Amino acid sequence: MTPKLHRVVDCLHAATAQALVLDEQAWEARLKRINHLPNSTLARIAIHSIHKLARCYPESAYNRLIRPYAENGYEVIGIGRNSTVLKVGDTALKIIRSSSRLSDAKKSTVIDEMKQKQSLLVDYIGSYALEQNFVVIPNPIKHGEVIAARQPLVKNYEPIEPNNHNDFESQARTSLESVKDFIAKSLTMAMDTDHMPDLLGASNIGFGNQGEFVVVDTLPISGGSCIKPSIQYLNKLSSDIDLAFS
Ligand SMILES: Nc1ncnc2c1ncn2[C@@H]1O[C@H](COP(=O)(O)OP(=O)(O)OP(=O)(O)O)[C@@H](O)[C@H]1O
Ligand SMILES: [Mg+2]
Repeated sequence: MTPKLHRVVDCLHAATAQALVLDEQAWEARLKRINHLPNSTLARIAIHSIHKLARCYPESAYNRLIRPYAENGYEVIGIGRNSTVLKVGDTALKIIRSSSRLSDAKKSTVIDEMKQKQSLLVDYIGSYALEQNFVVIPNPIKHGEVIAARQPLVKNYEPIEPNNHNDFESQARTSLESVKDFIAKSLTMAMDTDHMPDLLGASNIGFGNQGEFVVVDTLPISGGSCIKPSIQYLNKLSSDIDLAFS
């Protein structure tokens, strides 16, 4: 695959993950954000088309994207722009798809970079971030090796979706207090470092089996075009929670 085609496939993964969970309003907001991306007009048209395709056929797109893993006997529990997530016993194994094209030396550089970014996130949000380590393993779907991020599996994971209307009334007060605390810490992180938790990808934060608040996507994002909408979203999330408290 050419680098351009790789970008298209990554975009289709992200669009499909969103298409499966976002409500109409949130979807429209996402499309609007695409118009503000610092891309060429042609690139924006391509991204829009991929999103429309995913929105029209979300299940078919998902089944097509996970097919190589299913054919090799793996259970896929999630997809994102960067990874395809497998359930292996009590572990979530995130296959970083693009890493299959990297040399061994480049793989270890990428792992070091991801470790650094993750530890920046942990410095700010602490144990809300699920523990995650990185390994190089045989590629589950073809020859060669890939980087995989390993996390404990969150059973009965209940995600909070970006910009969807979230009705938090059934959540325990302590869980919601954790979300408020997380919001405050994320805002501090954005101000101090120009990095913050990735809140715009589908299903990146949510609640675990015991109602505990968890961040499953532990690699932060950076840069104005991500930070601005994320801060707006955090403010909205905060008022949704206040409504549930009142
Ligand atoms: N530990 C886990 N337990 C249960 N489900 C998980 C876990 N980790 C990830 N998932 C599921 O897999 C999806 C993709 O994982 P993740 O967000 O880490 O991938 P990504 O490629 O980094 O995504 P993004 O497009 O947001 O960058 C999550 O949104 C979630 O639904
Ligand atoms: Mg994600």
